[in-house]
Amino acid sequence: MYLCICNAIREKDFRALAPVCGGDAEAIYRELGHQPQCRQCLDEAEDILAELGCAAAA
Ligand code: FES
Repeated sequence: MYLCICNAIREKDFRALAPVCGGDAEAIYRELGHQPQCRQCLDEAEDILAELGCAAAA
């Protein structure tokens, strides 16, 4: 399942990187070699960070 359609970022790839990245959603996108385009996915991405307990989402 894609988290970000614009960049074809899969939710599982985002979730895998989130605990080791230590940044916010945009930082994780950068680690994956992308940057937000339409930005419609960022709320969901931040929700995933919060669910995972990542400090940057607070
Ligand atoms: S869906 Fe992620 S930037 Fe557009």
